[in-house]
Amino acid sequence: MLTSWIIYNGTLPGTKFERQANLITQAAEPLGIQTETFRNDDVRFLLPLDESFDALPHAVFFFDKDAALAERFEASGCLTMNRSDVIRLCDDKVAQTLAFQRANLPIPETIIAPKSFPKSVTLSDEALRVVTERLGLPLIVKEAHGSFGMTVYFIETFEALRRKVDALVGRDFLFQRYVKESHGRDVRVNVVGGRVVAAMKRTSDCDFRANVTNGGRAEVVVLTEEERTLAIRAADAVGATFAGVDLLYGASGPLVCEVNAAAHIENIYKTTGINVARPMLDYVREVLR
Ligand SMILES: Nc1ncnc2c1ncn2[C@@H]1O[C@H](COP(=O)(O)OP(=O)(O)O)[C@@H](O)[C@H]1O
Ligand SMILES: [Mg+2]
Repeated sequence: MLTSWIIYNGTLPGTKFERQANLITQAAEPLGIQTETFRNDDVRFLLPLDESFDALPHAVFFFDKDAALAERFEASGCLTMNRSDVIRLCDDKVAQTLAFQRANLPIPETIIAPKSFPKSVTLSDEALRVVTERLGLPLIVKEAHGSFGMTVYFIETFEALRRKVDALVGRDFLFQRYVKESHGRDVRVNVVGGRVVAAMKRTSDCDFRANVTNGGRAEVVVLTEEERTLAIRAADAVGATFAGVDLLYGASGPLVCEVNAAAHIENIYKTTGINVARPMLDYVREVLR
């Protein structure tokens, strides 16, 4: 019998992470796949896996960005979804940008900020002028790490840019052209094993960010062929077998915003009725056959 574990982040408040796990369990039952759910901060993970557990599962689903834990499962021979290197890459918007550029994907024009340290001096006004002359204002500043739009900032003036950049000294971030056609709307595409399995359009009336957690609402959307192909290419560019791809509405076609390697599947389920866990489980069965 195929066994799979589901890992979610237990260090965060709320129950939505557990609810994702339940969606997998529900889809696994009729397939005869055994599932067990764990928090990443389960004390048993503090010791070597083979000391804490009699048997490890065939596959581990990560609804979490704990790449180090994923890597430990891989070292013990488990299939992880996504792989630890993919989780790590997708947790870094700077690294993702470089992967999209290597794959020649359309993205909003992006300038990567120089690496700095907590004790570094801030970027000069001259540097910021190069950025604003190139990208215009308003522009978007994104930290390398963050979810739910929490570390994505809409910057309207040079002074606001100055303040934000000063505040981000020591952190990795990037500057991005603001795609005004996409203000308050984007498309979330779930890709599993190189196939589009579900998609929704997200719209917000109160924020430039369309994230549902940020007040956006979701509806079913029929993708254009261009959007479909781009989402698959974006997932492929970062090596994700399970991906939540965010696409922006560009003036002349879709643009890749980001790929989530630990994409939540609850909102897409509520919106489309599609439990993405099913194709994920089918994929794992196929690979482990
Ligand atoms: N360059 C941009 N122009 C306009 N809107 C953007 C841009 N980048 C991101 N957004 C909006 O902000 C949201 C959050 O950005 P995203 O890169 O997906 O970060 P997060 O990982 O926090 O979801 C996107 O879903 C989109 O609605
Ligand atoms: Mg996003």
